[in-house]
Amino acid sequence: MLSHRHLKSALAVATILCIFSSAFDSRIIIEDTAFTSLLGSSPEVIELTKATSQFYHEGASYHAPTKSLWTASDMMKSGNTTVRLIHRLTHLESRKSLRIEQINHTVPNPIGAVANVRGSPLGDVLLYAAQGTLAKSPPGGVYALNPYPPYNSSLVLGSYGEYPFNSLDDIAVTSDGVIWVSDPPLGYGQGNRPIPILPNQVYAFDPATNRSRVLADGFGRPNGLAANVDDSVVYIGDTGADIGNKTIDYQGPRSAFLSNRRIFAMPQDRATAADGIKTDTRGNVWATVVGTGVVVWGSDGTLLGSIKLEGTMGNLVFGEAGQLFVLGGDRIYKIRVSTDVVGVAFEHGYK
Ligand SMILES: *[C@@H]1O[C@H](CO)[C@@H](O)[C@H](O)[C@H]1NC(C)=O
Ligand SMILES: *[C@@H]1O[C@H](CO)[C@@H](O)[C@H](O)[C@H]1NC(C)=O
Ligand SMILES: *[C@@H]1O[C@H](CO)[C@@H](O)[C@H](O)[C@H]1NC(C)=O
Ligand SMILES: *[C@@H]1O[C@H](CO)[C@@H](O)[C@H](O)[C@H]1NC(C)=O
Ligand SMILES: *[C@@H]1O[C@H](CO)[C@@H](O)[C@H](O)[C@H]1NC(C)=O
Repeated sequence: MLSHRHLKSALAVATILCIFSSAFDSRIIIEDTAFTSLLGSSPEVIELTKATSQFYHEGASYHAPTKSLWTASDMMKSGNTTVRLIHRLTHLESRKSLRIEQINHTVPNPIGAVANVRGSPLGDVLLYAAQGTLAKSPPGGVYALNPYPPYNSSLVLGSYGEYPFNSLDDIAVTSDGVIWVSDPPLGYGQGNRPIPILPNQVYAFDPATNRSRVLADGFGRPNGLAANVDDSVVYIGDTGADIGNKTIDYQGPRSAFLSNRRIFAMPQDRATAADGIKTDTRGNVWATVVGTGVVVWGSDGTLLGSIKLEGTMGNLVFGEAGQLFVLGGDRIYKIRVSTDVVGVAFEHGYK
């Protein structure tokens, strides 16, 4: 039980936190003092751009050598098939300086993306988890995209043995170059893929040995993925409660992050699911939660705080030190936090 004295100091702390959060930006909610040090002395949330369509939904990756942010759109109709557009954004300093370029690409329905790591035989490329289409070819799978003109791409992994993937969704790469992908059945529900013939699993593919294996099963809908800085933990989001037809199954798995099947955290906002997950080099876990914005946990699962944002919240990615980009569907937010906050993918990537 709290003594009177403890209660008083707890109230004092709570008051200080309130002052801090309102001094920053009312959208920044501090749940734990550790979050204030992550935010740094002058956190800032700006809307970098806003489009009339869902251009900035997924595929958030940052290519450090060209200081470019890459995004993938939500499904767009093109004749009888669906496509997802890839945009490349540079001059990321402000809304005014921003340059946006649509990239011609042949990756079938790219969803998740990550900049490759320095240790990988695939070299300086962006890696995509591509859902695929109803056609057999080109297959859904992992693709490498050249981040320099002419932005050509090639297939890295097109199946699990004889099985076509259900519809790959997100992708992460550990510092040793091993690629992790999540394979929920979403593409079938969206009319983009045939009936799934694999369980809803997470796969790992090692380009050095050309071997793939199943790393985790038993998911509703495995979705966002991210490894910590020493590759000892991989965080996997499960958006299984979101059936895909705008119905929430409240008994279904929802935003439970698992690492070696340990539960990590679940967002406390009702009817939401964590979609994108990224880690920083200090072990914190940053996720986009649909309907909320960004939620941050410490490596032990302590809720540190959140940043309330508008939009549909697809994915997020760290840029340069202290820079976070959040994709809100039709818009992109740029968030400045402490320069001590460095994304794991940035740390392990090409520079
Ligand atoms: C679209 O589908 C319709 C009906 O199946 C077909 O008649 C038409 O040729 C298709 N168009 C293209 C561009 O594939
Ligand atoms: C993309 O493709 C279209 C049509 O093939 C072409 O007109 C356009 O110049 C291409 N854009 C770039 C940036 O290569
Ligand atoms: C792009 O094309 C060049 C030249 O053909 C090739 O060497 C490179 O591997 C390609 N990159 C990708 C990612 O496919
Ligand atoms: C990798 O394995 C696949 C499937 O077994 C095979 O089709 C492909 O040729 C292999 N690639 C290399 C570079 O060995
Ligand atoms: C959504 O899908 C679930 C599971 O198939 C079904 O029970 C429910 O009736 C569906 N809801 C709508 C609005 O279609």
